[in-house]
Amino acid sequence: MTVREVQDEIIRIKKENDVCILAHSYMSHDIVEVADFTGDSYALSKFAATVPNKNVLMCGVRFMAETVKMLSPEKRVILSSPIAGCPMAEQMDKELIEGIKEKYSDYTVVAYINTTAELKTVCDVCVTSSSAVKIVGEIENKNILFIPDCNLGAYVAGKLSNKNIKLLQGGCPVHAAVTKRDAETAKKLHPNAEMLVHPECIPAIVSMADYVGSTSGIINYAKNSGGKEFIIGTENSISEHLQYECPDKSFYPLSQGLICRNMKSTTLIDVLNCVRGNGGEEIFLDSETISKARKCIDKMIEMGG
Ligand code: 13P
Ligand code: SF4
Repeated sequence: MTVREVQDEIIRIKKENDVCILAHSYMSHDIVEVADFTGDSYALSKFAATVPNKNVLMCGVRFMAETVKMLSPEKRVILSSPIAGCPMAEQMDKELIEGIKEKYSDYTVVAYINTTAELKTVCDVCVTSSSAVKIVGEIENKNILFIPDCNLGAYVAGKLSNKNIKLLQGGCPVHAAVTKRDAETAKKLHPNAEMLVHPECIPAIVSMADYVGSTSGIINYAKNSGGKEFIIGTENSISEHLQYECPDKSFYPLSQGLICRNMKSTTLIDVLNCVRGNGGEEIFLDSETISKARKCIDKMIEMGG
């Protein structure tokens, strides 16, 4: 079968089996082309709450599928690749945060959405990279415990000097591995390019960027900019999608190492198997976890606008 034939088969079967395909923007181009909706974590969460289909296939990582399940518990939610976790989401557990909360009882606990459903049960509000500054800025409490990403947390703290933001040592191993030297090399190779980076990168890189934002933020900025060349400081799929969408512009990965193996573990054939009903992993969450963890997602959607 050709790629096009596999895609046509997926489109035919998903209609027949009432499956909605959601894809994070880090999915490969052949998957994005068959998805009903593609976006960053925030857009996916908002969309997930409105999906009319009985079955949802989440092409992304586990915490994204868990978010869909929490927002639509009556639906059958499938994660496209059972091995697709997000290492950052699993860095901290509930017991650790409960212990810290005892010491910092007057802090509001803000969880990056890249956390497990279990961890969300002990947090007050979720944020995504596109909504973090807005939401933390609107929280009444000055004292914020921001988990788990210390790089995103430092970015938020830099924007909100009126807040007292406590950070822990967590983060995305893929983005945090990009070095200042990578950025200097990329800028030397492409002196006319604007550098667009995800706030999961280390502060030294964020401070060198022309634009800092979520995956969708980076895509929209590059599409709408009058510039012709861009260094892309997030997972390399984004450079690829942009190159397809804007053939008259040039996109260079900030580092060839910006590859999330978890996101990349889903293939087009996995998507075909999932819509056929024999692939992926169905997500199950108990009702107590859903009701406790969902509160901070609902709050995020309410505050994120
Ligand atoms: P976005 O919120 O930009 O979609 O990012 C999710 C993610 O996992 C980034 O590494
Ligand atoms: Fe998690 Fe980083 Fe992969 Fe995003 S890029 S899913 S934060 S490991």
